[in-house]
Amino acid sequence: MLSVKGLNTEYKTQKGPAVQAARNVAFEAPKGVFFTLLGPSGCGKTTTLRSIAGLERPTSGEIEANGRVVYSSAQGVFVPPNKRNFGMVFQSYAIWPHMTVFANAAFPLEVRKNRLNKSQIAEKVMKVLHAVGLDHLAERDATRLSGGQQQRLALARALVMEPEILLLDEPLSNLDAKLREKMRFELKRIQRELGLTTIYVTHDQGEALALSHEIAVMSEGRIVQIGSPRTIYERPANRFVADFIGTTNFIDGTVLGHDDATKLYRVRTPIGDLLVTSDAPLAGGAPVTLSIRPEDVELTEDAAPEDRLINLSSGMVDAKVFLGDIVDFQVKVGDVMLLSRAHPSLRTPVGDKINIRMDPLKCVALPAEPAVAAQAAA
Ligand SMILES: Nc1ncnc2c1ncn2[C@@H]1O[C@H](COP(=O)(O)OP(=O)(O)OP(=O)(O)O)[C@@H](O)[C@H]1O
Ligand SMILES: [Mg+2]
Repeated sequence: MLSVKGLNTEYKTQKGPAVQAARNVAFEAPKGVFFTLLGPSGCGKTTTLRSIAGLERPTSGEIEANGRVVYSSAQGVFVPPNKRNFGMVFQSYAIWPHMTVFANAAFPLEVRKNRLNKSQIAEKVMKVLHAVGLDHLAERDATRLSGGQQQRLALARALVMEPEILLLDEPLSNLDAKLREKMRFELKRIQRELGLTTIYVTHDQGEALALSHEIAVMSEGRIVQIGSPRTIYERPANRFVADFIGTTNFIDGTVLGHDDATKLYRVRTPIGDLLVTSDAPLAGGAPVTLSIRPEDVELTEDAAPEDRLINLSSGMVDAKVFLGDIVDFQVKVGDVMLLSRAHPSLRTPVGDKINIRMDPLKCVALPAEPAVAAQAAA
């Protein structure tokens, strides 16, 4: 298990104030869990990971791994990186040339203090090479590997030390799309088979959704939401998360009231009054922003069946894009443009009227935030 509490890390700069790269970061990754730090470039993911590894010295906070405090500002503890027993793979992994695959993987064991004998090393190395599917290439020159194989070798090198916790910083970023997808499966399999607590860093939301048990979304040094991939996608806590993960429709509105029977809120919006869901209690009159995923904007040419007469609206097809397995429709409802992801069997032509229905449980009310334009002007 890895537990991080109140972690702050800053970088001094030549002139001007220090950069607050990690701000009050806190999370817990239980044993065997694949935990991902996700966020846009510069949000503090690498800083957080390096602080956990001991490669950056935080200004305050506490880091505990499997019951052992490796950093605590309050207790004055700072365990150096090589004593933490964490494995780390960097974005720019380095394969040592002029060495075989075996020698690359064995290197961390060769240089460590209490050295094992030759056959112990061979046993451990072949075990990790087997785990990453490179055992048959053990004698090959490491530079004569494909990108994906080199990636797996970097992983093997981190695994050979039998780390308590695996720290991975965008380890798939310099692979092509196909290989990246394949490596995702491999990585997940290895992680599961070895039961390794893994902290994974990526700015790729698809990768985070595909790999993780838990995701912490970061923005400007802070964690803004922690949850399962499904929770993060279906119940984003704020506009930033809804916008960063996947595609969504935002509709501004005002809370009219609460419906006790359905536990839903009624919200007035430019496309009509809608029943919506909210995790946080909402006061009547409060401004909100609704987030509705394109696949939850249902389109039909027929009238809705009688038992489904809620959250109905209608609009005009403004544009559509055929993507093979889906068709993206842009539908104009008054002044609002809605994006809908529909089945290709729907063939309504541009310019025609179309009916819209939205499941109240898929209309998520978020606290309204000041408009971007207003922020920029301030
Ligand atoms: N050595 C450094 N000195 C000063 N500022 C730094 C240093 N390293 C990072 N920063 C700043 O700290 C902030 C967080 O950087 P960090 O590398 O943690 O971001 P990141 O989320 O990993 O981004 P990316 O996805 O681009 O790798 C950024 O504003 C960055 O400019
Ligand atoms: Mg980074």
